[in-house]
Amino acid sequence: MTRRVRLVGIGSGHPDQLTLAAAAAIEGVDFVIAAAKSAEDPLLESRREICRRHGNPELVPVPDPPRDRNDPADYTGAVGDWHDARAAAYEKVLLERDGDAAFLVWGDPAFYDSTIRIVERILARGNVTFDYDVLPGISSLQVLAAAHRIVLHEVGQPILVTTGRRLAEAVDQGHDNLVVMLDGSLSCTTLKDQPGWHIWWGANLGTPDQALVAGPLVDVLPEIEAARAHAKATSGWVMDTYLLRRS
Ligand SMILES: C[S@@+](CC[C@H](N)C(=O)[O-])C[C@H]1O[C@@H](n2cnc3c(N)ncnc32)[C@H](O)[C@@H]1O
Repeated sequence: MTRRVRLVGIGSGHPDQLTLAAAAAIEGVDFVIAAAKSAEDPLLESRREICRRHGNPELVPVPDPPRDRNDPADYTGAVGDWHDARAAAYEKVLLERDGDAAFLVWGDPAFYDSTIRIVERILARGNVTFDYDVLPGISSLQVLAAAHRIVLHEVGQPILVTTGRRLAEAVDQGHDNLVVMLDGSLSCTTLKDQPGWHIWWGANLGTPDQALVAGPLVDVLPEIEAARAHAKATSGWVMDTYLLRRS
């Protein structure tokens, strides 16, 4: 029988965010692969807890290969190299073990996550064969909306989901309702016309240290900066997502 690999969205911070389908998938595999920044990666613990709760498959942490951030002009090339290195590391785990595997994917695999692309790269290498499927998870942008009790767009209006790196460009293009992810440096602090914006911000959503701030951007930026620093100090990590809308 062909080996099965399952890409399981696990939600964005709390083990209770797992769907019933995701829980059943984890219970059904022989081992679980989890990318880890280091052996002490604090985000590993929530994935360990998920495994303990759902059949206790072996959790195999795979150290994340370093990513070259020195050449911003070749961002796509650097990410491609990083994906190749990750594919090689995951392939090694699949070659060393028999049985079905699951990748635990933070949030939802369809939002700013490359596990699907990396799994395609593993298959393209041709050293290991398997069928794979993708199970959706609750994304941080959904947790953000629920925590603030908001709809992410106005009635019948569009929404742009982008990264901190591309925020200024999106605003220049005229977008006025944006969800920003992957923003390690709070790029909204550099917007040219800050008084025109309202923000709904959340960090470490779904965890006991979840932090929420909402209000006119210029008024609440100091509170957001303080909450970011506090989340980092208490949890050992900080990830934030926010909605920006022109007032
Ligand atoms: C590599 S992306 C992964 C996104 C994930 N696939 C999802 O659906 O949420 C990481 C970014 O997701 C957002 N994120 C993930 N988990 C979060 C959380 N618990 N609280 C706030 N933002 C989070 C942050 O913008 C972070 O920089």
